[in-house]
Amino acid sequence: MSNSFALITGGSSGIGFEIAKDLANRGYNIVLVSRNEQNLQDCCKRLSEEFGITSDYISSDLANKESVRHIYQTTKERGYNIEILINNAGYGIATPFHVTSLEDEEKFIRVLATSVISLTKLFVRDMVEKRNGKIMIVSSVAAFAPPSAIQVLYGPIKSFMNRFSDAMNSSYNHIGITSTSVCPGFTVTNFHTASNVQKMMDDVPSFMKFSAERIAKEGVDAMFKGKSICVPTKTYKILVFLLKATPYWFIRLLENTLAPGRYEKKET
Ligand SMILES: NC(=O)c1ccc[n+]([C@@H]2O[C@H](COP(=O)([O-])OP(=O)(O)OC[C@H]3O[C@@H](n4cnc5c(N)ncnc54)[C@H](OP(=O)(O)O)[C@@H]3O)[C@@H](O)[C@H]2O)c1
Repeated sequence: MSNSFALITGGSSGIGFEIAKDLANRGYNIVLVSRNEQNLQDCCKRLSEEFGITSDYISSDLANKESVRHIYQTTKERGYNIEILINNAGYGIATPFHVTSLEDEEKFIRVLATSVISLTKLFVRDMVEKRNGKIMIVSSVAAFAPPSAIQVLYGPIKSFMNRFSDAMNSSYNHIGITSTSVCPGFTVTNFHTASNVQKMMDDVPSFMKFSAERIAKEGVDAMFKGKSICVPTKTYKILVFLLKATPYWFIRLLENTLAPGRYEKKET
């Protein structure tokens, strides 16, 4: 059996699990990383039974600083050759920024950004040695959108991750290592329940919501083509094109007109 593995953070649910299925279908063995051990076991069982590949998991909380080194060491001890690294784990924080604790925000940055950079740093060294490897970062359309009043840090972190992925891609693609950032729009997963924004998601019109399977397929295809960035679905490609083409002052003007009072006004 091949020793080529894909490691997927947040691989026990939503987009991550669909990416795992897509890669297993292409013959890759899978290592899933997330916190809930029961979910991880169930997902591994499904992957092995359905696709006949080796699947394993590492239960780890990416909000912990030590998590990344533990994940890397475990794959080494188990002798896995990680050919594909999918940085996908994530969630949102619906509580206003001035209410959350500093610790909550630091954990958020660690899961969505610092752990992504650290995992990439550790695994890319092995990829450079082999002159072969693929990295994906699951980002978001929020990276291109105007600021959100309910999730102050989410968009900025996703923009940062897009720039990071792009820099990795241009630094290493000449030696066979690519990095692709995949930027989904609204996707039907557990994300909105886990982030306490399910009510907002229910109000989103159905033509703007897509399945995790569709997002995963477009993302994985783009990764195998070595693309630097992928915005899945025509709907969001058009939206992102319009967001990029429209002057920022005009977007802010529209925003302030269409959604006035999103921010508390200062008393004068
Ligand atoms: N759904 C959307 O509309 C949407 C849109 C744009 C971008 N995205 C991005 O897509 C990615 C995947 O989200 P999803 O929609 O598939 O959500 P999901 O179904 O809630 O899956 C999130 C995954 O991340 C894991 N996870 C969460 N916190 C973690 C932590 N501290 N340590 C380790 N694993 C953790 C979860 O497992 P455990 O809870 O067991 O740890 C789960 O496997 C995220 O980066 C998100 O920002 C989603």
